[in-house]
Amino acid sequence: MCGIFGIVTEKEEKLGPILIEAARRLTYRGYDSVGAATISGGKIDLRKDVGRVDEVAAKYHLSEMTGQRGITQLRWATFGEPSQINSQPHLDSDGDIVGAHNGNVVNNVELRQQFIAEGMTVRSQNDGESCVHAVERYINKGYDFIEAIRLAYGDLQGDYAFVIGQINDDKLYAIKKGSGLVVGIGEGFTCVSSDLPSLLPLTCTIIRLNDGEIITLWADRVDLRSVRDGAIIDRQPELITEEMSAVQKSGFDHFMLKEIHEQPQAAREVLHMLEGSTDVQTVLDKIKAARHVYFLGCGTSYHACQAGSVYFAQLASKSVIPVVATQFIPQYLPAVNHEDVGIFVSQSGETKDVLNALQAAEASGMTCYGLANVIGSTLTRSTAAWLPLCCGYEISVPATKTFTNQVVTFLYLAYRLGDRDTKELENIPELMEQTIVLTAPQVEALVPSINAWNDLYCLGYGATYAMALEGALKLKEITYAHCEGMLSTEFKHGPLSAVTKDFPILFVAGPQDVPLIVSGLNEVTCRGGRAIAIGEEDERLRANASDVIIIPSSSPMISSLLAVIPLQLLSYQMAVARGYDPDFPRNLSKTLTVD
Ligand code: G6P
Repeated sequence: MCGIFGIVTEKEEKLGPILIEAARRLTYRGYDSVGAATISGGKIDLRKDVGRVDEVAAKYHLSEMTGQRGITQLRWATFGEPSQINSQPHLDSDGDIVGAHNGNVVNNVELRQQFIAEGMTVRSQNDGESCVHAVERYINKGYDFIEAIRLAYGDLQGDYAFVIGQINDDKLYAIKKGSGLVVGIGEGFTCVSSDLPSLLPLTCTIIRLNDGEIITLWADRVDLRSVRDGAIIDRQPELITEEMSAVQKSGFDHFMLKEIHEQPQAAREVLHMLEGSTDVQTVLDKIKAARHVYFLGCGTSYHACQAGSVYFAQLASKSVIPVVATQFIPQYLPAVNHEDVGIFVSQSGETKDVLNALQAAEASGMTCYGLANVIGSTLTRSTAAWLPLCCGYEISVPATKTFTNQVVTFLYLAYRLGDRDTKELENIPELMEQTIVLTAPQVEALVPSINAWNDLYCLGYGATYAMALEGALKLKEITYAHCEGMLSTEFKHGPLSAVTKDFPILFVAGPQDVPLIVSGLNEVTCRGGRAIAIGEEDERLRANASDVIIIPSSSPMISSLLAVIPLQLLSYQMAVARGYDPDFPRNLSKTLTVD
């Protein structure tokens, strides 16, 4: 969600192509508008609008933009509708300063009123513009740029990062408070971005910023200061060795398909890490002694929590409460104390809803652990201990490999807590590979006959309930069809009335639940509906379902993990068949840093 990038070069040059490329690399975060600004000598060239990077770049000839400093921003609308005026970057009142932000300035409405009352020209509803005016306010009072940013920081409430520059200068400035910001140092240029993927093609020498830090960028150097007292911070740049292939499609049509195929290797890596981790025992000891254990997350990560709670009950006889992070505060917080343990799950480690719950839980004395993919994210910096998901970059907005590794991690923890031999889990990567190979053609054969439906159900029971929820979410996210995930046993308590001829209903069948699933299949088929069973080879499924998608045989809990793969493939193939880009679904964002 929103991404910013800024670059400073030695002399005036064609910055347009660099800005377009950087913007393209930020698109995976989700966006609805694009903008770019260049500063050359005494003037600012600003071009922006609603649309895809390539559309806006073509319409406004962004590639022709020149300057000695450039900023680009992708906006995901929060304050103000997606429109040209609300797109970023923004100018100050006189058009001498330009800036763009990522994040959420929560007192934006009040600030805008103040700026207008003070006589400034406020053009949009967007909070990125408030960042610019917040600096302008103190420039007008005679402060230098760094001082003005420091004072603006005191006025701007919320979590954000912004980059800003002015005419008749040779520098850009950026500040971090709650949103990601990384600085890149190259030959004859410096740059700053919301995240690493947009920097890596330019330079592998980087400096990670912490909250409350201001960076000044010249073409040949940077200086880092504390926003608190303006004092210089000495931080040596680090050299990043992550391969660029991680942020390229490597022959796959989409990142999502690449990431589905990366799941076996990612599972191998997380299992290897877990075997060697000393944090695992710490977490397990606390869970064992805990009064109540909560697993918390949002969206896909919540589904992993749901699966994890079934694994803990089935494999370790430990009761765990899975909670959608936002519901934790009203439903459980008043009852929480220091004897309780929470595992906070988030691929990005930045989901505001999860961080809000974490903050409240910590204040109540709960022991809080994290499960996150993005190392250095807020979640990993705010918990007593955290376990990495070891997935590398996940570019596609719909989560796939981060989900399966969350599930693998919970399986591993449940095995260990239940004193079971984790050797069996070493088969998972191989089984996942077989599942992809086996189910891809079965799914492909199914798509043409169900793709016209815009209403579907995805049902599961026990350990496969979480997979049904996840399958339904994937279908919603990228095919835009309405797909409801629910317990198969609940289907007869109402939704059955929706069944008409050929209405597609997916049943995720755990091997131990087949007799129960068979009843559900028949309740649908006898009303003319299309019951599609996903499960291990079983005569009973073949005899009772309209269609079957067969996955390899394993143990019941591992089987539930494998069952999500054909659902990922189904949503991917349906999205592509519908002409949608599964990597960048409309209205969604990979990193949801707002309430
Ligand atoms: C957003 C995304 C979902 C994702 C959820 C949680 O809503 O659209 O796909 O599952 O955030 O993300 P997290 O980074 O916390 O796992």
